[in-house]
Amino acid sequence: MMAPRIHIKQKQSRCPACQLHILIVGAGLAGLGSAISCALAGHGVHVLEAAAEIKEIGAGIQVLPNSSRVLQYWGLEEVLTPHMTHPSVCNFNGWKGNKISHLDFHESASHYPGTWYRDFHRADLQRCLMERALELGVQITCNARIRTVRVSNDGATATAIAVDGRQWESDLVIGADGVFGKLTEELLGRSDPPVKTGDLAYRLLLSTEDMRKDPELAPFVDKPQVNYWLGPDAHAVNYVLRGGHLFNMVLLVPDDIPETGASTIEGNVEEMCALFKGWDPRIKKLLKLCQSVQKWRLCIRFGDFDWSHPSGSWVMLGDAVHATLPYLASGAGMAFEDGAVLGECLSRLPNRPNIMKTSPEFLNAKKHALSVFQQCRKERTKMVVDRGNIQQYLYHLHDGPEQQERDRKMQMIPTPEGEALAWRDPGLAPKLLGYDHIADYLGLSSKAAEKEPPRGIPASWYRSEAMYHLERRAIFSKHWILLTHSSRFTKQGDFLSFTVANYSFFLIKDRDGSINGFHNICRHRAFPIVQTRSGSTSILSCKYHGWSYGLKGNLSKAPRFETVPEFDKSQHELLPIHVHIDNAGFIWVNLQAGEPDVKWEDEFQRIDEQPRMQDFDFAGDYTYDHYWDMELEANWKGVIENYNECYHCATSHPLISQVSDLPRYRVEPTAGYMEHHIFNKEQIDAQFKRAITYFFPTTSVTVTGKFFYIQRMIPVSATKSKIENEVYRHKNATDKEFDEINTFYRQVLEEDKELCVGAQSNLGGGVFVNGELHPNKEKGPIYFQNRVKEIVMQHRGKEEQQGEQEIWPAVPKLPGTMTEKLVEEEQFCSQVESASCMTRPELAW
Ligand SMILES: Cc1cc2nc3c(=O)[nH]c(=O)nc-3n(C[C@H](O)[C@H](O)[C@H](O)COP(=O)(O)OP(=O)(O)OC[C@H]3O[C@@H](n4cnc5c(N)ncnc54)[C@H](O)[C@@H]3O)c2cc1C
Ligand code: FES
Repeated sequence: MMAPRIHIKQKQSRCPACQLHILIVGAGLAGLGSAISCALAGHGVHVLEAAAEIKEIGAGIQVLPNSSRVLQYWGLEEVLTPHMTHPSVCNFNGWKGNKISHLDFHESASHYPGTWYRDFHRADLQRCLMERALELGVQITCNARIRTVRVSNDGATATAIAVDGRQWESDLVIGADGVFGKLTEELLGRSDPPVKTGDLAYRLLLSTEDMRKDPELAPFVDKPQVNYWLGPDAHAVNYVLRGGHLFNMVLLVPDDIPETGASTIEGNVEEMCALFKGWDPRIKKLLKLCQSVQKWRLCIRFGDFDWSHPSGSWVMLGDAVHATLPYLASGAGMAFEDGAVLGECLSRLPNRPNIMKTSPEFLNAKKHALSVFQQCRKERTKMVVDRGNIQQYLYHLHDGPEQQERDRKMQMIPTPEGEALAWRDPGLAPKLLGYDHIADYLGLSSKAAEKEPPRGIPASWYRSEAMYHLERRAIFSKHWILLTHSSRFTKQGDFLSFTVANYSFFLIKDRDGSINGFHNICRHRAFPIVQTRSGSTSILSCKYHGWSYGLKGNLSKAPRFETVPEFDKSQHELLPIHVHIDNAGFIWVNLQAGEPDVKWEDEFQRIDEQPRMQDFDFAGDYTYDHYWDMELEANWKGVIENYNECYHCATSHPLISQVSDLPRYRVEPTAGYMEHHIFNKEQIDAQFKRAITYFFPTTSVTVTGKFFYIQRMIPVSATKSKIENEVYRHKNATDKEFDEINTFYRQVLEEDKELCVGAQSNLGGGVFVNGELHPNKEKGPIYFQNRVKEIVMQHRGKEEQQGEQEIWPAVPKLPGTMTEKLVEEEQFCSQVESASCMTRPELAW
């Protein structure tokens, strides 16, 4: 099976007033990666580089699955392809040449679908990044060595000042000047030199022509592979580059570069060869092919400080803050991920024609974006730096019991955690190699919010059409919805129809006594099959052209289609929905086509078997009495939130205040439901024989000794809802008792309607954004909002990964219907839609 392709990010369009002017200092891998990512987020980018030209020094670079995901996301796969070599295996050898273990790269990458392991010449990688940046409109200026950055008094802008006095002003400076750069120290306002690791690297590039002549060396070229030799205090790594024309070799040995002076100096070939005396004879042969070499001191940075200026106008990334030993081949990968996460954070900045980037709202959002960036990145990059140091210890063991134990563990599958074969480490590998920056962003942006005092989700969520349709996709077409009680279906043919969030469907009892659910859509030309809210029928017949269906959804008659050759009735059955009847007889549906992602048992944790439900005999003691509904000019979330708190009861519900002990009222959320605990004033310690439970997303059930009712609070549009009530009467309730309790609840609901509609009119007004919620008294709304947010963000994340394509789980994949013609027609419409969306920025997500 073909692995799914990684989605390519398209350049975002931004209103000019919300477009940042970003300066990036340093055109290394971090700087160029960030430039691409920020340009894709729709911002203007200018890169300032100290060197006279963009020319990567160094030699090879290994790209691991996590880096490859980012490079593909930036649209680089095609241009990189001619420059990559595909190593199939990574061999780990002892210093004498004995094989310790190996890792199959294809097998390893298969755990991270769509990604790969490849090797590059750095110059090729860097050139491709630069060309992509230029293609996206990034400006690059060389010969610009930046001395410092100055933030304006109001914090809105930052100016990069070059050593020759030139200055560039911007809304944001991104410092990416590498491990030996000075900007981190400028940001900190103190000295903070990189930490020496005690190792240095000899980096050599050999011509493969001579290697091919030697039968011992030729296999290194003919079968692309990565080879490690681990020895006392040193190790060596090599792999081929550029279609087998070049051979990259790195030797990692104790640092003997003089303390003062440059950290990269000319090396001495004889001295280098002497260090590897006695090693695998193939290393000796390889080193003999070397003419000249440079040696690089290896330093690291732990980055345990604030990477951004408090103003939100200056941030540091890449090796400048978290340089690592190259022993996991992950420094550049971390730099790419930095760029990708920062771009993601900046792509979520406000983008509306009525907001300026100098406004307090925008500046706060910019600060928040940098803080989310840092939270996503700091822990992860620290993990890589720390693990690099562990690798240094493990790779450089002297012969002896510890080295033997290391080798033994390297041969194990899976390798124990914390051992030398890190890419097979079950603790580290999935985290390191399986990283998805969008998922991290989405997870962390909500985690960051949890630390703040609880505030409501913003008003825009209660009025946006785009959000409403996202909720239809993410919530209503995937989650179980509690609808009614099975006691309403007494005989075959009894049906009930429902419309929830514009999804129309019905339930019907068939001859076998099963209750089936179908979308209320004729398979011919979409007319609704069932026209009334309830009823009984022996056949389901469509009033448009007369197609009729059996109670199991089978098409029984399609007038005059007998003459249409090859018309197959079995291909035109009603579209089924999932129906679940719990132990208490309540009926739930799930509209997802195919197997539901959400399991009823996981979401509701067998609520039907819990003690509070055992107090009542729903089918034996209660009978359905009547239905009534109410329409509200309010978003459904506002209605659910109002339902799930009684903080407002004292001021707005005099009837409830009279009978209930309000300070003791509690709402306890668990998984997909919330239990309301309400206490009677007169029997202070005894709970009413009453149970109120809300089931995500729409429905509550209130049960008392006199009646029970099912209340569905369903969305009708972005700003309209409907409350539908099914009232069931207890067999022992007198008319007076039943009337009284009905009147009580109707009045409460009328009062709730006024509250929800009043709040909605201001949520739609554009002044109010959000307010602080009481952590206990409004526990219900907080829980509900977090749940909605998590679900819609996750769904949206998946859509973004699939190239901004909306995912509609309720839409069935019918065999034979997705023809090329239909795909083309769908694409045409979606292009028309997105074009009109761009002219209506409020609809753009
Ligand atoms: C031997 C070795 C092997 C490695 N192998 C791998 C590997 O296989 N895989 C991997 O993922 N990583 C590897 N790495 C790590 C990787 O090379 C680095 O993490 C990555 O290149 C860091 O990129 P950077 O842009 O942060 O810094 P740099 O690449 O150092 O770029 C900094 C840029 O800023 C410019 N600059 C500096 N000061 C200023 C200034 N004042 N004004 C303007 N411009 C300035 C510099 O000229 C330079 O262009 C290896 C590293 C080493 C040493
Ligand atoms: S739409 Fe139902 S029969 Fe034509």
